[in-house]
Amino acid sequence: MANRATYGRPIGRDAELGLLASAVSGAADGALRAVAVRGDPGMGKTRLLAELADLARARGFAVHHGQATEFERDVPFGVYIAAFEPQPGDPSRDAQGALTELLLDATGPSEARRAGLDRYRLFQRARRLIEDQGAAGPVAIVLDDLHWADRSSVELTEYLLRRPPRAPLLLATAYRAAQVPAGIARALAQLGDATAHISLAPLGEADVAALLPEADRGRRRLLYRTTHGNPLYLQVLADAGVETLTALAEAGDTATGAPERALLEVLSTELTALTPDVRQVACAAAVAGEPISLDLVASITELPEAALDHAVDHLVGVGMVVEADASLRFRHPLVRAAAYWMAGAAWRSRAHDRAAEHLRTNGGPLQLLAHHTARSARHGDVQAVRTLEAAAAAALDAAPSTAVRLLRTAIRLLPDEADLASWRIQLQWALGRALGVTGDLAGSRQILQEVIRAPGPLRIAAVSFSSMIYRLLGDFDEAKALLTTELTRPYARDRSTSLARLGLAAVELMGREPGKARLAAADAIRSLRDADDEALEAAARTIQALAALRDGHVAQSLSETGRAAWLTDAMTDDVLAPHLELIAPLAWVELHLRRYDDASRHLRRGLDIAYRAGRSHSVPYLLIVLSALNERQGRLSEAVTAAEEAREASRLIHSRETLAMSSILLLRPLLWRDGPRAALEHAERISGTLPRSGWWSGLARLDLALVHAEAGRPDRALAALTGEDPADELTGTYCLALRAVTTAAAGARSEADSLAENAVLLATRSGLPHQLGFAHRARAKVLMLSGRPKEAVVHAARGADHFAAAGAPVEEGLARQLAAELHAALGSVVTVRNEIGRAKSLYAAAGAAWLSAALARDERRLAAQAPRGRRRPAGPLSALTTRERQIADLAVGGLTNQQIAERLYLSPKTVEAHLSRTFAKLGVQSRVTLTQHLAADAQSRDGRAAAGPDAGSM
Ligand SMILES: Nc1ncnc2c1ncn2[C@@H]1O[C@H](COP(=O)(O)OP(=O)(O)OP(=O)(O)O)[C@@H](O)[C@H]1O
Ligand SMILES: [Mg+2]
Repeated sequence: MANRATYGRPIGRDAELGLLASAVSGAADGALRAVAVRGDPGMGKTRLLAELADLARARGFAVHHGQATEFERDVPFGVYIAAFEPQPGDPSRDAQGALTELLLDATGPSEARRAGLDRYRLFQRARRLIEDQGAAGPVAIVLDDLHWADRSSVELTEYLLRRPPRAPLLLATAYRAAQVPAGIARALAQLGDATAHISLAPLGEADVAALLPEADRGRRRLLYRTTHGNPLYLQVLADAGVETLTALAEAGDTATGAPERALLEVLSTELTALTPDVRQVACAAAVAGEPISLDLVASITELPEAALDHAVDHLVGVGMVVEADASLRFRHPLVRAAAYWMAGAAWRSRAHDRAAEHLRTNGGPLQLLAHHTARSARHGDVQAVRTLEAAAAAALDAAPSTAVRLLRTAIRLLPDEADLASWRIQLQWALGRALGVTGDLAGSRQILQEVIRAPGPLRIAAVSFSSMIYRLLGDFDEAKALLTTELTRPYARDRSTSLARLGLAAVELMGREPGKARLAAADAIRSLRDADDEALEAAARTIQALAALRDGHVAQSLSETGRAAWLTDAMTDDVLAPHLELIAPLAWVELHLRRYDDASRHLRRGLDIAYRAGRSHSVPYLLIVLSALNERQGRLSEAVTAAEEAREASRLIHSRETLAMSSILLLRPLLWRDGPRAALEHAERISGTLPRSGWWSGLARLDLALVHAEAGRPDRALAALTGEDPADELTGTYCLALRAVTTAAAGARSEADSLAENAVLLATRSGLPHQLGFAHRARAKVLMLSGRPKEAVVHAARGADHFAAAGAPVEEGLARQLAAELHAALGSVVTVRNEIGRAKSLYAAAGAAWLSAALARDERRLAAQAPRGRRRPAGPLSALTTRERQIADLAVGGLTNQQIAERLYLSPKTVEAHLSRTFAKLGVQSRVTLTQHLAADAQSRDGRAAAGPDAGSM
């Protein structure tokens, strides 16, 4: 075979090489850089990645270079395991080994698996390992032929692109133009300028001349016509006869796709020319897989060692097999494909069988064993079914798509015998679950229906699982229909019925009518009366607690929450794991009842179990509540992180519903931290994908309205709120408060007034400090906008106090900032400083950068608002006695002499005397100039020290 032009600079690719060089420099400087090379087969993608790897190595990168293969698409993480396979003598050997070990571990047999890791946690660990390596120097991950990669590798790549390791990282991918994995394409696009997109076009005629300098012009023209400038075809056909070339050129003109087949034929001819032993070794190597394992090839061919060595040397000699990174590979995937197909079906199947046997006896990797088994086993092979079932179980959490393939094969191989019927259902149940985990609902539903039809213990589990999948997808009506059907089945009241009732309550909970959820939960609790089933009771009481809270029954909610929490805490992890879904609503209700510590403890435990037990369906919900808890308690960056993680976890299980929920949760922390523009941009991005649940779509509209209101678009905010009849009492106060403020801003003062009053009434009924905070703050704002600052200031202060009691620092800060504004209008300068100082430190602790910056601007404005004296008064404030200062402050605060006298238990005359002495000492003539003097003093002191409560103030 012609093997020219493999070395030296690639021809005609200067622009592409320039892009690669700048990507390498960018990553070396510490930024994430991605490279996406796409092109038709043979266009030079692999070649370009090899150049990239060389460039990176020269800049001191640790390079991990892996290639996906056509025939091993079901081996999970294949391309990563290949890339991170430790190389002997490599200085970064340990770091490489760690990732390979992690991935093998996560999909290995259960006794080898240290801890079950669901996909998301696994990906997090992988990212951390890359970060660890990145701390020592820049890292390049080069993934070739991603169009053949197993789904888990594609998911991991997408994850790394979406949540890049904090490390100097270059992540390069190559795939055939027509077969781009969609998720990766989207993730690459999202990175914007950090991605270099390289689309490889055919070489030009001049490049052909440069590539084949020894061919004459006529031949070059013919070659160009035949190959259309495809480098691989040029290379393979460089030595072909004129007749072949002419025939190919004519075929190529009429039929597309013909060149690849023609090429395979040319390559097969080369294989046929080999001696039988060498050819057999080539075929065995094609079956064994890449990188080529000589042990496996030996077990397939059963050739003596010397003959094997000789054959391998020969294949390397003719360039069919190449040695790269201390391992052997075929020179090009097409060469391997030619050898694989040439072997013939029967021989190939036996070869896979011998490979499987070798791996089984030598304890080879489980997934590789399953791969060879799936390709060789025949119907009725019970041992094969067992192998595939075990490999599927091992892959379920980390690589569910592999589990799906393996289980399908296992079901096909299982003999049709009556006594194996329950095994078949077991396999179908596993397949249904695996399909659900991959997000293939239709497939999952179809299989699970077969399980549901068969009598037996798995039926009800299949019903529950299906209804959970429906909920994740936002198909609440379907979930309800499924459960109601199950409940109308005529059989005794047992655990299964309770489970179905519980499922129904969970569906109702997500709707707009919490009353229905309360009834359904009560039903479930009743059905459990004598059952003594703490897990189910905890779940039912949790739903009851949340439904009661949403329905405005705070006392009932408190008692149900207490009971549910107590039951949950008493459960061991094993008992809790199958009912993990109860944790998120429990923590949600605890969050709203201001039981933050309980909520946080439950979430931590829930996440821990979810990751260990592979309950990936529970992860998004748990992270959603965690994000809300962080936001409430003023940990804004943590809130953003948790919501982002919830989004990733939702993408993995294809849950559009939890994806929409978590996207909503980003709005508030983004708003407070990064400002309305960032929040608005995010709002625009997600506007087409709001949650479908009645409850959550209401929550979504409220937060979107808030963002619009803060962005100074009360009309848009009102539009989002109009017709928004609050889905429950819990959001009712908030909704009224928001409507009051936006209505007031739009000028409808009296309507705003009554909305705000209603908000206070509703909040008072609930007695929850957080609700009271919203209501009073809104009332203050409305009064302020109506020009009634004195009444407003009282409500602002109450709002702040309620938020303080609620442990909601950001909201408290907003209330204090409002109070400061009102005090400024009333002229009480010292109080202004005091409130601003408190808001400032609350914002700073929460990481509310945008609020802090806005407050700093406000502070200057408020200071500037206070009229400044033209004459610099003569006397300093220190000249005043404590009593004089006290009286001055109260006078500035707007109190009359009579009021000051009453407040301080003095006579009005004494007050007057103190004031005139003060005027004299400071050289001011009136209360107005006294105010200016105090403001100027406050401002100058602000410059020296961080604003804090003024010891000398009232
Ligand atoms: N610009 C070039 N100059 C010289 N040789 C090249 C050039 N591009 C590709 N080649 C050679 O052509 C052959 C095919 O290229 P390569 O294997 O990189 O294609 P590919 O796009 O990766 O194909 P596939 O889609 O099948 O993986 C290789 O031997 C490569 O060295
Ligand atoms: Mg390639």
